[in-house]
Amino acid sequence: MKVDFFLHNVGEQERGLVDETLQSVFLTTGPRTKKFEEALSAYLGTQYCVGTTSWTMGAFITLKALGIGAGDEVITSPMTFIATGNVILHAGARPVFVDVEPDTGNIDADQIEKAITPKTKAIMPIHLYGQMCDMKKISDIAQRHNLYVIEDSAHCIEGVRDDIRPGQVSDAAVFSFYATKNITCGEGGAIVTNSEDLTKKLQKYRLHGMSKGAAERYSKAYQHWDMELLGYKCNMNDIQASMLLPQLEAIEEIRTRKEAICRRYEEAFAGLEGVTFPVALPQSKHARHIFTIWADPEKRDEVLLKLQEAGIGVAVNFRAIHLLTYYHETFGYKRGDFPVAEKIGDSTITIPLYAKMSNEAVEYVISCVADICS
Ligand SMILES: Cc1ncc(COP(=O)(O)O)c(C=O)c1O
Repeated sequence: MKVDFFLHNVGEQERGLVDETLQSVFLTTGPRTKKFEEALSAYLGTQYCVGTTSWTMGAFITLKALGIGAGDEVITSPMTFIATGNVILHAGARPVFVDVEPDTGNIDADQIEKAITPKTKAIMPIHLYGQMCDMKKISDIAQRHNLYVIEDSAHCIEGVRDDIRPGQVSDAAVFSFYATKNITCGEGGAIVTNSEDLTKKLQKYRLHGMSKGAAERYSKAYQHWDMELLGYKCNMNDIQASMLLPQLEAIEEIRTRKEAICRRYEEAFAGLEGVTFPVALPQSKHARHIFTIWADPEKRDEVLLKLQEAGIGVAVNFRAIHLLTYYHETFGYKRGDFPVAEKIGDSTITIPLYAKMSNEAVEYVISCVADICS
């Protein structure tokens, strides 16, 4: 049997809307992008949303718009995709890592305060695999130390913890619509915030600092635009938004199926020797972006290859980023600096999880994991 690592949910409705857009005049940032931005902020209960071409560019312009740059420090954790650390570096600031909780892989909020220095400007927590960090604690720390909070919500659109959703108690939450994300347009991103001032800045930063976007310039009597700041080029377009709108409508239905698969995985692996997995906290609604198992670090790579040989799509999310060559050579990080993230990074294997997965495929994955790990 072959089990794909991921299958997206782009179907007839998305194709229909893309086709409509292609037949219209407007392909760049226009009415569909606006509609998607309104729909995402309505879904999350935030006031504003700005669509971008990726999480990476969304997070980068958020740092720029908040004035974070040379000489500043941003606290984050090393159990993440490299994009999180890289955007902080691109902005000219320095990522300061804090280790993660052993049961979830999320930043250990109790260790944040000791990493704060006079240079600290922001905290960037990652809602790993789709489970939210302790935003109550994090926003409390940020308020006491006058720091910005930018959530790496690349894995988490649907999550809720302590009645808090992404973007609700932070300065901004940034999302990814990369090919394997819960909703996707191949590549894409968005930022949600409750700050009108930040929204206006982000709208300029995503489009060369221009005072008017294409829709404003051409849908009304011609108006001159000005360049108000040195911006970038990372505005979401209407083709991307057309793919995302129907998926956003179906997001809860898709999550329900993924939740059922995760519950079955958790039930099956609970008694299995040699395998553990991150805890889904009872006080949170998990976005169920990906499901990872933690194998014996000595055997992880062997298990990974054996699962692949059995026809199962696998990935590693993630090896702790402070140990990757660039971070190790540039900043001198070494093994032992963040032991919990390292342990997770050495043992983690991501197994298939998507709404289209059949029960038969789920059982096949379970039996292969059981055979290979025991
Ligand atoms: C935790 C995390 N942050 C950021 C990103 C970057 O997202 P994008 O590829 O949309 O820039 C990813 C991407 O997969 C991710 O997993």
